[in-house]
Order: sequence, then structure tokens, then C-alpha cells
Amino acid sequence: MSQSVVPVNIPGAASYEITVAPGLLRSAGERLRKLSKSDKAAVVTDAHLAATHLPILRESLQRSGFEVISATLPAGEDHKTLRDLLPVYDVLLGARVERSTPVLALGGGVVGDMTGFVAATVLRGVPFVQIPTSLLAMVDASVGGKTGVNHAIGKNLIGAFHQPVAVLIDPEVLETLPERELRGGLAECIKHDVIRDAEGFAALEENIGRAFALDVEYLADLIAHNVAIKARVVEADPFERGERAHLNFGHTFGHAIETVSHYSYSHGECVALGMVAAAFAATRLGLIDSGSQRRIINVIQKAGLPTGGLKLDTDEVMDAMHFDKKVRSGRVRFILPDRIGHVIIRDDVPEPIVREAVESLR
Ligand SMILES: NC(=O)c1ccc[n+]([C@@H]2O[C@H](COP(=O)([O-])OP(=O)(O)OC[C@H]3O[C@@H](n4cnc5c(N)ncnc54)[C@H](O)[C@@H]3O)[C@@H](O)[C@H]2O)c1
Ligand SMILES: [Zn+2]
Repeated sequence: MSQSVVPVNIPGAASYEITVAPGLLRSAGERLRKLSKSDKAAVVTDAHLAATHLPILRESLQRSGFEVISATLPAGEDHKTLRDLLPVYDVLLGARVERSTPVLALGGGVVGDMTGFVAATVLRGVPFVQIPTSLLAMVDASVGGKTGVNHAIGKNLIGAFHQPVAVLIDPEVLETLPERELRGGLAECIKHDVIRDAEGFAALEENIGRAFALDVEYLADLIAHNVAIKARVVEADPFERGERAHLNFGHTFGHAIETVSHYSYSHGECVALGMVAAAFAATRLGLIDSGSQRRIINVIQKAGLPTGGLKLDTDEVMDAMHFDKKVRSGRVRFILPDRIGHVIIRDDVPEPIVREAVESLR
């Protein structure tokens, strides 16, 4: 089976590798043994994965001599809270984890962010291993070291940067992922190619349907390609002072749609609509031609993601974007393509164009 290894070198942090290989879950124990002499390993997962993929990981860890401690979170974004994390600390501390005990996240982005926060804080920090199981977690959430939980005031407001010691990605686990979740991950893949890779974008136009056929070799290549793009962006700007903002392409409009729709659209669907709006604004500003705009819309459609049909009030969406702006005490910043594979940051987009872009989503 093919295997891809993407090295990650974040300034000021230990370097580590992201490994992508079909069947990797079954050999996770051997991989971890090369990194850890610990006699214990703690796995945090959610209720959906506990029954399906946890037994395979547990067995693999045990075969390599780890005593396995496991904690199961309730599934879903609604449970991404400190309150839901407390029992995990109880399990880990009750089992007498040590500073050298690796803590593994087996799950989507919610499990990854929450487990990373536990790993950053329990005993002031223990080794953290990501085993992402949703496409979004594989190509996005598992790279960059952001960990945390939501607060009633807003999402991801409590957290820490904590880089993993390894990321193990087995595309075979996607076989059980609901298709809507798969599409959500594809939205971030489209984003990555629009901001960084024209060739990748052309390949995506050609092949994206293979993701739905769960062509594991294709998915493995797609994931490795995307992980590499995100890793390069994060390496250049680990603390989000500059170009890491490029990863917000589609997210300025997208977050506003997410808020105003009260999360009836998934994150990926909001990002899809947000990318369509950003492509519209970029076209109006003369940054890209209508042919490039068309290509962006088409690939989003091929991913089974929405490009229109939005029934939200434009003023409310505009207000939500401005609220975001007030929170960050500045102007609304848009990430806009000036060609496919390259973006620029603009904080001077005239309001009528922003409004038209939102209205173009009807
Ligand atoms: N840290 C970061 O840089 C970063 C980046 C992007 C997103 N995020 C976070 O990621 C979260 C979203 O991640 P997500 O979309 O993976 O959500 P999620 O973790 O809620 O997973 C989505 C659903 O799919 C299920 N699931 C996951 N893998 C499965 C599999 N292989 N088979 C069957 N079911 C499976 C989960 O149980 C859940 O019900 C958000 O909380 C977001 O804030 C973090
Ligand atoms: Zn996103």
C-alpha cells in the first residue's frame, strides 16, 4: 500500500510527521512504539467511533505493549464544552497518566480539538497524537496545533496551541463517514487549491467524483496533498499574524451565513457559499475573470455543495460580518483570489459589492 509522509516544522516547536496510508489504523501501535516508551496510552474518542474504529486501534496498541486507557465523549459540536471534557480528566488522572503518557485523539475535528486541549493541559502537557477520522479533520483540523472548546459566547474561545508528536491518517476509516461530512471536507480541499495550487485545482476538477466512490488510493493522495498545503501555510505563520489568514478564504462570508442560519447549514456548506460569494466579489473587482469564477463554482457543484438558494436576509448577513469586524477591531478583511492558486487580503471592498456578493447566493 502506498504511504505519504508530510514533515511539519513549526518554528519553536518540535518537528513531526503526518503519515497518510490506507490501513494505518491497524499499525498505529507499532508507529507509536517508535515514538514512545510509555507503558500506557490514552485514547479519547466519541460515541460514534467507539463502536466502529476504537476496537481496531485498541488492539493495535495492545499488541505493541501499551495498556490502553479510553474515554468516550458524546458526539457533535454541541458537546464541545469544558463541561463535557471534565470526565476525560477524571478518567486520565484516575488511571494515573504520567508526563510521558501519549494521549491519542480518534475522531473528527471536535474530538481532535478537545483531546488536544486535554493533552495541552493535563499535567501541564503530555504528548499528543492525532488520528483524524473525518475528511475535514484529516485535511484541516489535524494540522496547525490549534486545540480548544467552545464557550456560550462563541466558538473555540478557550484553547491552547499544542502541536502533536504525530498525525496518523488512515483514509479507509472514511468508509463509515456520512456523505454530508465527506462533502464538508471537500469544501476545505477546494479552498486549499484556490489559495495555493492551480495544478491541484485542475486535478480536483477532473477527479473529485472519485472521492464519493471512496477510491482509497485517490483519497490518500488528496489528503496528503491538502495536508501539505496547510502545513506549509502554518509553518510560515504558526500564530496567525499574516498569511495564515489565507486559510479564511470563503470563511468571512461563510461564518456570517453560519451565524445567521443558526447552523442549519453545515460548516462546509457555509464555506462553499462563502467561496462563491468571494469569487463573485473578486470578479466584480476585476481580480479574476468570469471564466475563473465559473470554474470555482463548477468544482463546488461537483463536490455536491451548495452554490446558491440562500434564503437569508442580506442585511442580517451584512450585520454578522460587521459584528465579526467589531470583535477584531478593524475593517472586514476578505481573502480574494487574483488567480486560481493565489489569493490576496483586501480590507477595502466597497460595501455595495459585498452586498451584491451576498445577494448573488440567492
Ligand atoms: N484545530 C483546527 O485548526 C480546526 C480547523 C478546522 C475545524 N476545526 C474544528 O473541527 C470541528 C469540525 O470537525 P468535523 O467536521 O470533523 O466534526 P465532528 O468531529 O463533529 O465530526 C462530524 C461527525 O462525523 C462523525 N465521524 C467522524 N469520523 C467518522 C467516521 N470515520 N465514521 C463515522 N462517523 C464519523 C462524528 O462522530 C460526528 O458525528 C469544529 O469544532 C471546528 O471548530 C478545527
Ligand atoms: Zn473551515
